[in-house]
Amino acid sequence: MVQIDGWSRESLLAQLYDWEHDAFDDDLSCYCHLAANAPGPVLEICSGSGRILAPLVDNGIAVVGVDRSPEMLARATARLGLRPGLQLVEADVSTDDLPLGEFGLVIAALNALGYLRSTEDQLKLLRRIGARLLPEGRLVLDLLNVGSIVDQPQGISVLQKSGPNEEIGAHVTKWMVQQLHWATQELSLLSFFDVTGPDGRLQRLTDETVLRFFSRFEIELLVGQAGFTVEELSGDYDGSPFVEGSPRLIVVARASSLEQ
Ligand SMILES: C[S@@+](CC[C@H](N)C(=O)[O-])C[C@H]1O[C@@H](n2cnc3c(N)ncnc32)[C@H](O)[C@@H]1O
Repeated sequence: MVQIDGWSRESLLAQLYDWEHDAFDDDLSCYCHLAANAPGPVLEICSGSGRILAPLVDNGIAVVGVDRSPEMLARATARLGLRPGLQLVEADVSTDDLPLGEFGLVIAALNALGYLRSTEDQLKLLRRIGARLLPEGRLVLDLLNVGSIVDQPQGISVLQKSGPNEEIGAHVTKWMVQQLHWATQELSLLSFFDVTGPDGRLQRLTDETVLRFFSRFEIELLVGQAGFTVEELSGDYDGSPFVEGSPRLIVVARASSLEQ
């Protein structure tokens, strides 16, 4: 077990998430654009430490972030401060009700829907999202296109990032082993964080995330069954078409009742 003064395992994992992802901004302009054109406030499910919420609140957009991790939410609070129009809610989106309100845009970034591994739970969540959307509101799902990673090494540790981590006062090297499970449509991501303190002592923190992945026509059927109509389906954050090898599978959908 990694022992760093003042850090629990969960608070360290939240910090290491930010250490790795704070510089990732490929998806931000896509969400800022959708939010700026939305007819009401934004709800982000699995909002984590507020990486996406931050530019939205900076643009004066009212946002609600929901996440099950108190440690991630604590980091979001530290990042965002207390701002009018910002609400952070601790809840598990697979079991709990979504925050009350009517939203113009619901964001499920970085494969958030895949945290729910059964089709039944995914449908329930999509229906709960539909119930919170304003009539002209949109849902955006950012999913991994599994076709883009089939050629990547499986079952082998691959270096993700290595460098100083000033907040915890250590050098960190992150390795990841990914493994696709085709029968269950799951992607296992096993992470190893090698943390070297100023005294040279090496400690390793291990964490595993398992995500469901989706095919293009599966997700279209799923959102359709949950009462949505797909408006746009793209293969990357720049809106480029979904083609073989596209890095992402991005779906923008609205409530189907608008069609009638
Ligand atoms: C990869 S992080 C993404 C955070 C943020 N959306 C971003 O793009 O930086 C995934 C987040 O989903 C949260 N999460 C996973 N399953 C959840 C669930 N069932 N209910 C609520 N939050 C969940 C985790 O706590 C974590 O903060």
